[in-house]
Amino acid sequence: MPSLRILGTGHAVPDRVVTNDDLAAMMDTSDEWITQRTGIKQRHWVTEGETGIDLASAAVTRAFEMTGLGPTDIDAIIYATSTSDHFAPGNGILLQDAMGFDAIPAFDLRAQCSGFVYSLSMADAFIVAGMFRTILIVGQEIQSTSLDTTTEGRDSAVIFADGAGAVIVQAHDEPSGSAILATDLHGDGQHARELWVDAPGAIYHPRMRADHIGARSFLQMNGREVFRHATTRMPESVEAALAKAGIAAGDLKLLIPHQANLRISELVQRRLGLRDDQVYNNIERFGNTTAATIPIALDECLRTKRLARGDLVAFTAFGAGFLWGSVVLRW
Ligand code: UT7
Repeated sequence: MPSLRILGTGHAVPDRVVTNDDLAAMMDTSDEWITQRTGIKQRHWVTEGETGIDLASAAVTRAFEMTGLGPTDIDAIIYATSTSDHFAPGNGILLQDAMGFDAIPAFDLRAQCSGFVYSLSMADAFIVAGMFRTILIVGQEIQSTSLDTTTEGRDSAVIFADGAGAVIVQAHDEPSGSAILATDLHGDGQHARELWVDAPGAIYHPRMRADHIGARSFLQMNGREVFRHATTRMPESVEAALAKAGIAAGDLKLLIPHQANLRISELVQRRLGLRDDQVYNNIERFGNTTAATIPIALDECLRTKRLARGDLVAFTAFGAGFLWGSVVLRW
């Protein structure tokens, strides 16, 4: 039975840097509040005309440079995003065209902050089933265009940001080599409206109306409720995946949690009893880029040589839906 190996990664963010002081000029907030409550110091937001496909293409180009592969080596694209450039079709197929891939399957996976964990689990299923051998996974979001940058929207506006990460995975047949050891995926739709964007939507006639512009087209979040669930579900899910894999948390070389809020990552770390060197955070520089946080962080870890073949690694995420999950793998 083939196993999945991560061959290489890349990431890209917009050039425009938005600092906490920049936000304090737009709304009633402060660098002190944002730093203490979220750990974020700066994030990247697109400028008008910059697309999700631009960010993804730059991230994928870097992943190709790292792996020595190119578009003709890829058998399928799984594109995790909740903010595709257009209502339809999705960004996966737009990327296929933009980068000159063959006529391979390319589709969007919409699992918000859990998009990368879901995509990696799906790629593993494809590889283990023998359906595809080399898969490109992209996590990409442009959140800044759905943020309310007045004081009314400050709880979300200070957190969310834009970016893209790309991960190339490939099948191999070496026993005891790299492999996904366990996955643990969940969802609970009764909380869908705790973190959502109401409009535009296909239920409205027409889909986009003047009264949608403003609150209903902004990302709305019940921050405290999301925080409470995230800090329970993520450690619970990592523990379930570790138990399935037969591994103790202490044996992990690295946990890369979804970068939602540094306080969430720190609570997850504490609940799992992990040391500081076992958990990677970069939210200070990027903010919360939804499906892109884990692949961006993973790319930084690879480029700074934090991982070696054989290391045990875990990813965990929680977000809108609610959807959450974890993956444990042997690097
Ligand atoms: O990506 C996955 C999904 N998202 C998340 O996981 C995010 C989860 N939630 C959070 O990270 C946090 O709940 C927030 C960062 C959004 C908010 O932090 P908090 O510590 O939960 O603050 P709070 O909502 O309890 O608000 C505390 C106070 C309130 O003022 P009062 O009512 O105590 O006077 C807020 O109005 O802080 C106020 N506040 C702010 N003040 C300055 C809320 N946002 C801001 C802000 N600047 N940006």
